[in-house]
Amino acid sequence: MDVIEAVKRRKSIRGYKPDPVPKEVLGEILELASRAPSAMNTQPWEFTVLTGDVLEIVRRNNVALLNSGAPPNPEHVVVNWPKESIYRQRQVDLAKQLFQLMDIPREDKEKRAKWLERGFRYFDAPAVIIISTDRCLSESGPLLDIGAAIQTICLTALHVGLGTCIEDQGVAYPEVLRKYAQIPESKRIIAAIAIGYPDWDFPANKVDTEREPIRNVTTWLGFD
Ligand SMILES: Cc1cc2nc3c(=O)[nH]c(=O)nc-3n(C[C@H](O)[C@H](O)[C@H](O)COP(=O)(O)O)c2cc1C
Repeated sequence: MDVIEAVKRRKSIRGYKPDPVPKEVLGEILELASRAPSAMNTQPWEFTVLTGDVLEIVRRNNVALLNSGAPPNPEHVVVNWPKESIYRQRQVDLAKQLFQLMDIPREDKEKRAKWLERGFRYFDAPAVIIISTDRCLSESGPLLDIGAAIQTICLTALHVGLGTCIEDQGVAYPEVLRKYAQIPESKRIIAAIAIGYPDWDFPANKVDTEREPIRNVTTWLGFD
């Protein structure tokens, strides 16, 4: 797939077909992702790929912790924007769009809770990639490199008909991943990517997120 087409077509997929994704296909995607640039070629990413029984156990334990009221315990600061900011507004706009597509009324607490659970279940994707980095590295530096690798995964996945959703929710309970996905304490867990064949009939997959016009976020200097 042409790179521009891939960039335009990539979107977060929150509903998947149950069809398994072959290990070889996931391996090829990760090979390509490892071509991502990194500061001084440090390549600070590590991947743990889950499917089958182990993924089911992780899903179940994430949801159990969520429903027990356990506070999320991510290993880097994720949600930290002021309430009265454009960032919060964009978050609200996304939630409104998803709830409308999923027919979840604002006041329907039960449906909202079920939707939240889906995120902690990796939207029932047949496979999940957990990305971690070594704790001997700085806290923020590897995030840039890992971001490049993540986008490369999401774009190359499209080439073989796969959809993805990058997820903070999926790493909100690192203790679950340490126990069942065998990720040691020496690794900082950064993000999850749900991956699988999109179910295009799933309403949330019709989400069409907007972007701020580039003129509002760009300063041009030295041009006529
Ligand atoms: C670092 C990061 C974390 C994210 N975490 C979640 C998440 O936990 N749950 C979710 O549904 N989407 C998550 N997303 C997806 C974003 O909501 C999505 O990228 C954004 O709304 C833009 O939509 P698009 O990906 O369809 O273009 C995350 C994306 C990024 C980059």
